[in-house]
Amino acid sequence: MNNTKNFFIKSFGCQMNVYDSNKMKDIFISHGLNPTDNYQDADYIVLNTCHIREKATEKTYSNLGRVHKKGKIDHKIIVAGCVAQAEGELIQQRAPYVDLVLGPQSLQLLDTYLSDANSKLKIITEFDAIDKFDTLRRFKTNTNSKSSFVTIQEGCDKFCTFCVVPYTRGSEYSRSISDIIEEIKKLADQGVIEVTLLGQNVNAYHGIDESGKERSLSYLINKISELDEIKRIAYSTSHPNNMTDDLIELHGTNTKLMSCLHLPVQSGSNKILKLMNRKHTREFYFKIIEKLRKHKSNIALSSDFIVGFPDEDDQDFADTIDLINQVGFMNSYSFKYSPRPGTPAADKKELPVKVQDDRLKIMQTLLNRQENNFNKNFLLKKVDVLISGLGKYEGQVKGKSEFNQSVAIVGNTNIIGNIVPVQITDISVHSLIGKAET
Ligand code: 5AD
Ligand code: SF4
Repeated sequence: MNNTKNFFIKSFGCQMNVYDSNKMKDIFISHGLNPTDNYQDADYIVLNTCHIREKATEKTYSNLGRVHKKGKIDHKIIVAGCVAQAEGELIQQRAPYVDLVLGPQSLQLLDTYLSDANSKLKIITEFDAIDKFDTLRRFKTNTNSKSSFVTIQEGCDKFCTFCVVPYTRGSEYSRSISDIIEEIKKLADQGVIEVTLLGQNVNAYHGIDESGKERSLSYLINKISELDEIKRIAYSTSHPNNMTDDLIELHGTNTKLMSCLHLPVQSGSNKILKLMNRKHTREFYFKIIEKLRKHKSNIALSSDFIVGFPDEDDQDFADTIDLINQVGFMNSYSFKYSPRPGTPAADKKELPVKVQDDRLKIMQTLLNRQENNFNKNFLLKKVDVLISGLGKYEGQVKGKSEFNQSVAIVGNTNIIGNIVPVQITDISVHSLIGKAET
C-alpha cells in the first residue's frame, strides 16, 4: 500500500505569494510528501491568502468552507499569507477547524510543524524575514520551469493610506546580494533562464554585498547579468520615488533587462496622490517616464490604478484619465477602492458605488483600448519570445515576449527553453499569436 501523503497549495493574490507557495512546496517535498492538484486527495491543504482588498479576503473564507467540507477525511488545513497575518485570531473564530495559521514572514515554520505530528503550533505571525530566508535556503529548490520568481525584498515602509501591506508584510527588508545570487545559481542549475525579482517595493532594494556595503537594485541586476545561464531579468513592483537615475539608466545599458516596467501610480490627481500619501506628484511621474524613454525609447509601461478613492471628484478622475492618455500603457490593473481595516483611509466617507462602478468602466475601456493598440503594433513584426512550454493546442508552444506579452506559437517542441524570434501573425485581446522561425 502506498503511504505517501499528498499536499495541495492554492495561491491567491500577488507574485510574492506564488514565490512563498513554491517555498512551502519545497518544504513539503523535503518531508517526503507529494504535490497534488486536487485538494480532495490532499492530506495537507494550504491556502496562501491575500488581504489587499475585501473581496480577496472573503475568498479565503469561502474557499476554507469548501475544502473543509469536501476534503479527504483527516486532512489538515493551513492558512498562510496576508489574511493569516492580519486575521489570525478571527480565522480561528470563523473557521475553528483550521489547523495552522502561518503569516508570510513565518512560513519557514512549516518545517517545524511537519517534523512533529503532535505539534502544538496554532497561530504563528512573527515578523522575522531574516530567519525566513536563512531557513528557506536549506531546502532543495524544485522547479521544472524556465522562468522563476525570486523575492529579494519584503515589506514596505511607505504607508500609502489605502494599503494593508505595511501591516501584513512588515517593514522593508532586503536580502543580501550573496544570498540572492546563490538562489539564482541553484535555479539556473535546474534550467531557469529568466528571473523576475520581486518585492513590495523592489526598487527600494538595499541589500549588503560581501564587504558589508549597501548596494542598490541596479548593482544587483548587473551582478545577476554576469551569470551566463540567465538570459532575462525583470523586477516588480516599483514605486516612482525609488526610480533612481542609476536604475533608469540601466534600462538603456543592460541588455538582459526586459523592455517593460510595472510602475504603479494609483492616481493622476495631485490632490488624491496627497490624500493617498504617495509622496509624489503627477508631474514627477511624467518626469520619470520621460527619463526612462530617453534611455530606452521602446520601454513598455504598466501601472496600477485605484478609482473611487474617498474625495475623488470628477476633475480628479479626469486627471487620472488624462495621465493614462499622456503616458500610454501597455496594460494596467485597475481596482475599485476597498476600505481596509486599520488603514488611515478606512475612516473616510466612501463614494457612491455607482460613481465607482462608472469610473472603473470608463478607465478599463481606455486601458483595454491602449493594450489592444499596443499589441496591434506587433502584427507582422518579429519579436523575441522565451518559449516556456507546450501551448494550449496541438502543434503549439507558448511563451512570453520581451514586453511580457503572452504569445501562442506554432512551432516545434524542441525550441522550449530558448529565446527565439517569432513572427507575429495575429493578435487576440490579451495575447499575441505567431510562428517561430526555425
Ligand atoms: N483598494 C483598492 N485597491 C488597492 N490596492 C492596494 N490597496 C487597495 C485598496 N485598499 C491596489 C493598488 C496596488 C495593488 C497591488 O492593489 O493599486 O498597487
Ligand atoms: Fe502598499 Fe503603498 Fe507600500 Fe505599495 S508602496 S505596498 S501601495 S503602502
